[in-house]
Amino acid sequence: SVPVIAIDGPSASGKGTVAQRVANELGFHYLDSGALYRLLATAAMRDGVALDDEVALAGLASRMDIVFKGEQIWLDGAPVGDELRGEACAAGASKVAALHQVRAALLAKQRDFRKAPGLVTDGRDMGSVVFPDATLKIFLTASAQIRAERRYKQLKEKGMDAKIADLLQDIRARDERDTQRSAAPLQQYPDASLLDTTTLDVDQAVKFVLNGYQC
Ligand code: CDP
Repeated sequence: SVPVIAIDGPSASGKGTVAQRVANELGFHYLDSGALYRLLATAAMRDGVALDDEVALAGLASRMDIVFKGEQIWLDGAPVGDELRGEACAAGASKVAALHQVRAALLAKQRDFRKAPGLVTDGRDMGSVVFPDATLKIFLTASAQIRAERRYKQLKEKGMDAKIADLLQDIRARDERDTQRSAAPLQQYPDASLLDTTTLDVDQAVKFVLNGYQC
């Protein structure tokens, strides 16, 4: 079957950057699963759907038309801007992601990305729920302080303003919500290899994943 490399971990750990680089190196497809939850939060705010209305959100999730065009993401025929990367959107994503029916509605959409020659994907439950038979599973993390600094740099590069102390608070709140929820709580599942990137740069993390895949 088509190989899958699943990279899961907490907010702003750098899993997206690493996953994308690994996909490029191998010529594989890439799925940013967090973008789906962010897009759902965006669509809900657009349509005035409450972020705790499970049934309406699940319906919206199954109707969303999402197209990834390189760096650009299109939702229902219109390009989505940088607001998708903002903290407001991330907070909304983490709320809708806590709902069982929402996660169920997004399952098939995520599995559709598994196409030859292979898929690299990142999120919270890629190796546990969405692709339990993944070829390689990595739990990529880093200290909360380092993650706040990484998120700060990432936002700054996009011209968005933020304070590290506020980002640290956001990250802690999101860690709390993501690990305490009943639907696919964030955790290092037993068959994932731990990759702590607190003192590693992107190149080193990418090498770790590629080595794991080639073994
Ligand atoms: O990296 P960061 O957490 O900032 O963003 P993300 O990966 O885009 O995820 C945004 C939110 O979506 C997270 O806080 C999770 O609650 C949720 N999420 C999830 O539940 N399952 C996934 N596979 C991906 C994201």
